[in-house]
Amino acid sequence: MKGIILAGGSGTRLAPSTNGVNKHLLNVYDKPMIYYPLSVLMLGGIKDIMIITTPEDLPRFREMLGDGSAFGINLHFKEQSEPNGIPDAFILAEDFIGYDDVTLILGDNIFYGQGFTTLFREALQNHKNATIFGIRVKDPRRFGVVGFDENQKVTSLEEKPEDPKSDFAAAGLYIYDYRAVQIAKRLPISKRGETEITDLNKEYLKGDQLDVQLLGRGFAWMDAGTHEALFDAAEFVKITEQRQGFKIACLEEIAYYLGYLSKQSLHQKGERMKKTDYGQYLMEIADRKHTEQYWEKIDKNPVLEMVQNE
Ligand code: DAU
Repeated sequence: MKGIILAGGSGTRLAPSTNGVNKHLLNVYDKPMIYYPLSVLMLGGIKDIMIITTPEDLPRFREMLGDGSAFGINLHFKEQSEPNGIPDAFILAEDFIGYDDVTLILGDNIFYGQGFTTLFREALQNHKNATIFGIRVKDPRRFGVVGFDENQKVTSLEEKPEDPKSDFAAAGLYIYDYRAVQIAKRLPISKRGETEITDLNKEYLKGDQLDVQLLGRGFAWMDAGTHEALFDAAEFVKITEQRQGFKIACLEEIAYYLGYLSKQSLHQKGERMKKTDYGQYLMEIADRKHTEQYWEKIDKNPVLEMVQNE
């Protein structure tokens, strides 16, 4: 399974903040936005990940994340010269995908909730053809909307409809087989001058090859694409982290639990950022004597469970 994070676009909805900085490098409370989608792919166990962004911004992503070895993963980078649409990601990543399955996550999407890792891992494991994730939202007109019958079978897909057929948005997380590349090449240009991921999904739907995985009310899903949404997301992360003492999307922590990073290396990384709460957090985890027992008392940790079962 390959992973892609789409982190280009023009970011016009976040001007002036994005006049000199790529949206996905902006902070969501205590870490850059790109950490959140990257954490999702890592939690899914995906290690080969391509970040697609603009030619101007690519060096900054490379500087921030390196080749991924700091988190035990392999990062690849690719330029998207124009924001031609979300499906463009598959065309740009054609060689990287080869004949593998591929998971795409949008760079401004944040997922959080107990059991998310398990749900996502199961979706990756059971995946055939195409799988999308649906979640109830207050204003579905802002999103791709999934209509489905009582057996959770998808019956319709519409991009930002005036009159939505359901309250379920298609979140910015998609799993496909390698055929997505060729399908992406044939898609029409939409009214907003791009190819649409909804049109790609419709192609799978036509062949009765599209599954939807619904996320229930225990999950939080946000896209941080406007000032208000970015502020809300930051507030959500701040409140959750401060109340619970866990960090959301802490890449080094995830890498440690997945067995990619040693205790020593986790501690060193914390040490380098020790003036921040983030650095202190890493050192605190590395210093714990009985990590597994600690988790068992608090919660079932799906990442640890998975590590133990392997
Ligand atoms: O967030 C979920 C929604 O994302 C879905 O429900 C919609 O079906 C889907 O079309 C998309 O809608 P948006 O209008 O929010 O997409 P947007 O153009 O804002 O792009 C989403 C992310 O992808 C954003 O972080 C920028 C990046 N992007 C987008 C395009 C079109 C690129 O990197 N390159 C692109 O060419």
